[in-house]
Amino acid sequence: MEISRHNETRFLAATGNEHKIREFREILSQFGVEFVHPKDVGGIPEVEENGATFEENAVIKAKSAAETAGMPAFADDSGLVVDILDGAPGIYSSRYADTDTARIARLLREIREKEREAGLRRRAAKFVCVIAVAYPDREDADVFRGEVSGEIIDEPRGENGFGYDPVFVPDGHSATFAELPSEMKDSISHRHNALMAASVHFERVRRDASDVLR
Ligand code: IMP
Repeated sequence: MEISRHNETRFLAATGNEHKIREFREILSQFGVEFVHPKDVGGIPEVEENGATFEENAVIKAKSAAETAGMPAFADDSGLVVDILDGAPGIYSSRYADTDTARIARLLREIREKEREAGLRRRAAKFVCVIAVAYPDREDADVFRGEVSGEIIDEPRGENGFGYDPVFVPDGHSATFAELPSEMKDSISHRHNALMAASVHFERVRRDASDVLR
């Protein structure tokens, strides 16, 4: 069996978002992967997210961190993709306005405008999360995508979560992400689905590492 050169089991989490680090650590600890906090490597530089896709932005962040720290690193990029807005806000989800309240207000305003123009109601949307894993000595990165489909409602509902959660109702549910208990959101979310795809990769890496030790 060919053993991967990349059988490290320590990965730098290339994000400043403690909420994300906790989620990553919780879900992936079961795969024998140890996550290194950015603070443990003296911090990671901010990079300009100038990619045209979630994939490109996740790879930019992961590669920059892997090169700076000289160790494998992963990063995620996520956002809301709305059908009637031709995919907006997409990769610009966090830059759509200054606060979550303003972002939601802009989203609902633009959806209503488009619906008026088109003379129909169209609320389909999805959250997307892409996780990239990069290595300091490798040009390419591994990329994993997770999605959750749903619809945008007319008025925000619920206090949990963050971002666009109060106006997003996932398919198969009647509550918004902000009304669902956090364990429920965490078990069906785009981030969860991307982490599950990445887990399969991490599990393989761990097995390769234990094969080497044997
Ligand atoms: P980033 O991945 O940290 O760049 O986040 C992108 C933006 O997408 C966030 O600032 C939120 O506005 C939005 N977003 C990403 N994931 C979620 C989510 O789980 N719920 C609500 N909004 C989200």
